[in-house]
Amino acid sequence: MLAGDPPDHPINSLYLFLFTLYSNAMDFAEIILKNRSYRKFMEKQPVPEKVLEELVNYARLSASSGNIQGLKFYISKDPEQNRLIFSALRWAYYLKDWNGPEEGERPAAYIILLGDTEIHKTIEVDVGIAAQSMLLGAVSMGYGGCMIGSIDRVSLRKKLEIPPRFDIPLVIALGKPNESIRIEDTKEEGEIEYWRDEFRVHHVPKRSLQELIIKSF
Ligand SMILES: Cc1cc2nc3c(=O)[nH]c(=O)nc-3n(C[C@H](O)[C@H](O)[C@H](O)COP(=O)(O)O)c2cc1C
Repeated sequence: MLAGDPPDHPINSLYLFLFTLYSNAMDFAEIILKNRSYRKFMEKQPVPEKVLEELVNYARLSASSGNIQGLKFYISKDPEQNRLIFSALRWAYYLKDWNGPEEGERPAAYIILLGDTEIHKTIEVDVGIAAQSMLLGAVSMGYGGCMIGSIDRVSLRKKLEIPPRFDIPLVIALGKPNESIRIEDTKEEGEIEYWRDEFRVHHVPKRSLQELIIKSF
């Protein structure tokens, strides 16, 4: 059953029901911590159609400005479509000597967020909210992903025959993560660029709470 469905909805999912029953549910803080931008995956491990649908369902149930709900979605888990999508994406801007995941560690699935211009001009805040809902949902189900905004949109539109009616604000890459990621404090100089060490561990500096909270009354 998808979240928000009445119990007798026709797309009841036995898979998700059993998953919820037998998985050790993570608490929210753990999901937030595990929700890193993963860029390496176990490509051969598929993301089931029902999981992808459920992620879009989380976006569907999320807030949107004026409840406009102007986002639509393309789902891909097909290797050939995945290859086309992958070729239009740019990975990890700060890792200048890395051109993105190698074959075998590429995403097993993608969700492309589309702004339906016949409903409304795409609102970036809505895009972020939908994307975060989907990524948190993915982590809660044992998957992970990365938001990709650096997209060759002309090429992606052409390759996937995306009609001009739709903007392409964001792509979410998904799969079973195959990467160690560590959160660390930014150094005093405020260096925010992520980096990889000699053991291929990916480090992500985060600013301190003290730096973020300007005033607390
Ligand atoms: C709107 C948005 C667009 C992003 N676009 C890209 C991208 O094009 N390529 C990429 O490799 N990562 C992209 N990222 C991932 C960020 O680099 C990542 O969030 C940041 O390094 C912090 O890492 P964390 O998500 O693990 O905290 C994007 C993130 C956001 C929120």
